[in-house]
Amino acid sequence: MNINDTFGITSYTASEDRYNNMKYRRCGKSGLLLPMISLGLWHNFGHTDDFNNARNLLRTAFDHGITHFDLANNYGPPYGAAEDNFGRIFQKDFKPYRDELIISTKAGWDMWPGPYGNYGSRKYLVASLDQSLQRMGLDYVDIFYHHRPDPDTPLEETMGALHHIVQQGKVLYVGISQYSAEDTARAYDILHKMGTPMLIHQPRYSMFDRWVEDGLLDVLEQKGVGSIAFSPLEQGILTNKYLGGIPEDSRAARDARYLKADHITPELLGKVEKLNQIATSRGQSLAQMALAWVLRDEKVTTVLVGVSKTQQLLDNIQALENVAFSANELQQIEEILT
Ligand SMILES: NC(=O)c1ccc[n+]([C@@H]2O[C@H](COP(=O)([O-])OP(=O)(O)OC[C@H]3O[C@@H](n4cnc5c(N)ncnc54)[C@H](OP(=O)(O)O)[C@@H]3O)[C@@H](O)[C@H]2O)c1
Repeated sequence: MNINDTFGITSYTASEDRYNNMKYRRCGKSGLLLPMISLGLWHNFGHTDDFNNARNLLRTAFDHGITHFDLANNYGPPYGAAEDNFGRIFQKDFKPYRDELIISTKAGWDMWPGPYGNYGSRKYLVASLDQSLQRMGLDYVDIFYHHRPDPDTPLEETMGALHHIVQQGKVLYVGISQYSAEDTARAYDILHKMGTPMLIHQPRYSMFDRWVEDGLLDVLEQKGVGSIAFSPLEQGILTNKYLGGIPEDSRAARDARYLKADHITPELLGKVEKLNQIATSRGQSLAQMALAWVLRDEKVTTVLVGVSKTQQLLDNIQALENVAFSANELQQIEEILT
């Protein structure tokens, strides 16, 4: 990433209108409101990406009331780079707005070599958080997640580590990601006994991946835990961008780490085409309808999008103008998806 950014980008003052149009939902039964659209830094914030573009994405988000930025220790490339670049941008643009921001990070996937840089031990989580704070230049993060379940570490130890970092004052709220409904209920109970509430769960949820409907959302509602749905656009497949082939500047063409071009099959595109027609009849882009569809259920607090261009973010924000679906629209979508 080119950080010689003294040219072509001016100093930043946040838009005075930033809270006029964004909508916020309460995160479970907590005191915390989250914007219905949140911005994730998994892609487009690495050292191989354009620093000024990354900076503009964050500015555009905040200018439109997106107060929540989601990171993880291993976002890059290389690992750590997204936190590093976010930290630089934070120092330049967002420091005066720290108390208006909800910044999250995570640990749970492989991060550094050896037995202490992966999964769910207390050793890994506590050390990783310290590294994340250092990279971002922050005293604390608002939300810290255990990034994925660890079948070999006792859940008491992992949840104990989350409780510990809250007690240390380095984290305000804790969450978990990718945990099953059953493990979520257990994790909630362990945290609850220690006196630390579970704020939020971060599952993958989109029209093409609906596993959360099979129990997880009900557990979250019973326990009063919020949810933030990641990859709600299925990494871009649930937009109209792949309908005419694979654009050169798309994730499928540029970055085959997680979205492979051969995953975008003619069968999948047939469904996307039909969904696109329903979106058009609703007066929305497919991206907007895909986000609205995830948000139709109030158990979802916010959708966590990624964007490579500011225009995509502006498109996505407009989804909030209509998140209601008629029974007929839902039925038509159901027929396409099943
Ligand atoms: N907890 C976890 O395990 C986990 C895992 C994955 C992600 N996450 C979080 O979720 C966030 C979002 O994930 P994601 O990036 O996969 O989300 P996504 O919103 O499903 O996909 C984002 C991609 O879709 C395309 N896009 C977005 N808006 C568009 C629009 N209006 N029109 C056309 N294309 C559009 C862009 O791709 P192009 O690059 O092609 O333009 C963008 O990079 C991540 O940043 C991360 O914070 C968490």
